[in-house]
Amino acid sequence: MPYFYYNLPPTIMYSNLLDKRRFKKTAFPIFEKCSNADKAYELKANGIWPYFKTIYETNGPEVKMDGKTVLMAGSNNYLGLTGHAYVKEAAIKAIEKYGTSCSGSRFLTGTIDLHNQLEEKLAHFMHKESCLLFSTGYQTSQGVLQPLVGRGDYILSDRDNHASIVSANLMAKGLTNTNIIRYKHNAAEDVEKRLSQLPTEAAKLIVTDGVFSGSGCIVDLQNLYNVANKYNTPILLDDAHAFGVIGKGGRGTASHFGLDNEIPITFCTFSKSLASIGGFVVGEKKAN
Ligand SMILES: Cc1ncc(COP(=O)(O)O)c(C=O)c1O
Repeated sequence: MPYFYYNLPPTIMYSNLLDKRRFKKTAFPIFEKCSNADKAYELKANGIWPYFKTIYETNGPEVKMDGKTVLMAGSNNYLGLTGHAYVKEAAIKAIEKYGTSCSGSRFLTGTIDLHNQLEEKLAHFMHKESCLLFSTGYQTSQGVLQPLVGRGDYILSDRDNHASIVSANLMAKGLTNTNIIRYKHNAAEDVEKRLSQLPTEAAKLIVTDGVFSGSGCIVDLQNLYNVANKYNTPILLDDAHAFGVIGKGGRGTASHFGLDNEIPITFCTFSKSLASIGGFVVGEKKAN
């Protein structure tokens, strides 16, 4: 047995031995999985590695990569705002006035008047009382989901929800032992089955993508809401791919179904139709 397996508790020793069978040996056991990436190197060598492709120029839907101008069909610049003259000018003005960073967290020294203005405008646009901005869409999921739940509560999450929700669910489970139930994709009947088996008095939350990031399909919100309402359970919408695209004036999935008042909390990213980076959540000042 190599020296680094000594003095470890039996369970860790056992799992390391299992890993040893799967991974090549490196100086540090923790890095063994990293040295086992032969498949990735093979794909790269054959020129079929799809990740981290460098873009050298963008011109609307056309981009320059690998020395060629190609049509970009895989981006999330849904409204084409990234290169819009008005948006670029506003970004430049903001940098001229505030520099390139808020130089502090929102809690302490990092709130500028632009944050407050944007929060007000987004809340107003979404017909909700309140809005809070985050640094990324990913962080919005983490910041919204985990604080809402606690020990013994239940999150019911669509199996096809975005990875950021999966990660937020895991954080909730890890930090507070929230129960996570992954229901069949877009299946209100499965949600009903699951909810009917849970204690009536338990606090529950349904979380779903509005437009699913993998397939592009729209959640069956009306049926999901009918079930949620029957079991007194709120729905949280991740509208990353719906905002700006569906619903009245681009207000997203709840608006698309005429359910704006029935969905208490919607969160979203700026990295798709909103031509930027960041995220936001909207709801009433005191969720109810
Ligand atoms: C449905 C969904 N939610 C959240 C996110 C996270 O947003 P961001 O990449 O801006 O952090 C994404 C991004 O791909 C997404 O597709």
